[in-house]
Amino acid sequence: MTTTPTRPLPSDQQVQMPVIGFGTYPLRGDEGVSAIASAIEAGYRFLDTAVNYRNEREVAQAVRESGIERDDVWVQTKVPGRDHGGSRKSVETSLSVMDLDHLDSVLIHWPNPSRDEYLTAWEGLIEAREAGLVRHIGVSNFTAAHLDRIVEATGVTPFANQVELHPLFIQEEMRAVHDRRGILTQAWSPLGKAQAQYDAEPVAAAARAHDCTPGQVILAWHLALGSMPLPKSADPGRQRENLAAVDIELTEAEVAAISGLSRPDGRLFGGDPDHHEEM
Ligand SMILES: NC(=O)c1ccc[n+]([C@@H]2O[C@H](COP(=O)([O-])OP(=O)(O)OC[C@H]3O[C@@H](n4cnc5c(N)ncnc54)[C@H](OP(=O)(O)O)[C@@H]3O)[C@@H](O)[C@H]2O)c1
Repeated sequence: MTTTPTRPLPSDQQVQMPVIGFGTYPLRGDEGVSAIASAIEAGYRFLDTAVNYRNEREVAQAVRESGIERDDVWVQTKVPGRDHGGSRKSVETSLSVMDLDHLDSVLIHWPNPSRDEYLTAWEGLIEAREAGLVRHIGVSNFTAAHLDRIVEATGVTPFANQVELHPLFIQEEMRAVHDRRGILTQAWSPLGKAQAQYDAEPVAAAARAHDCTPGQVILAWHLALGSMPLPKSADPGRQRENLAAVDIELTEAEVAAISGLSRPDGRLFGGDPDHHEEM
């Protein structure tokens, strides 16, 4: 078993965060529980779920069935757009669905700016944290302007912003914003899903040089950038393969060549948070 290495959270050096996490969408039902349990067995210690994935129950069940101590695994969920007006209540519901007494982190899933309720959602998460329901609060798909607004209004900085990030869309500006503010960058669709650049020459060349798979190269590229990737796999073999990427160290030239694949229009499905909204 590879145990996931950790690094300190940018916002709190006392807190150790696994360098790679496990994405759980769309794992559901008994098969979903088995897949999540096999990820825990493989050594993943960070599970990313969301109310809208409709699998919080499966995640909690996998944690219980795996026999791992609750404190040894980081469980993260996300508040959906329809709950922005009652995000503390949404956290309470997640806890009840999962039969847990606290969450390690909760994110606002999408800002949904046309509804203009993400600041209210942030205030509700601050309350939830003060009430001890959740240890760390963060956001997902927030732009620099959304971050400015919630931090200026409340004085509370999210511990993480989970954004679309893969070789076709490297989020250089957002990563710089996060670094300036001490925010952890979490990467969704870290491999690039159906558009994964496994055959692109910089990825294939690094895979040959390091005698590893193209998927591992892409995950090692994330780690070199300081991004925390959340790869999803239903397959125990690929789960282990992805976790083993923590042992691969790319050269600066390899990292730069992979970053060179990025395109301004590289988002997988046009999920620009200023326009794309999810309830
Ligand atoms: N915050 C947000 O708005 C947001 C949006 C999207 C996703 N997410 C989160 O990010 C997580 C990951 O994103 P994602 O599932 O969209 O994309 P991804 O992890 O980049 O890609 C998953 C796909 O790649 C395959 N795969 C996994 N490892 C592989 C490997 N080593 N070689 C070849 N193929 C491999 C998987 O198939 P198999 O299962 O068959 O291995 C699956 O089809 C989600 O589960 C979710 O937790 C968040």
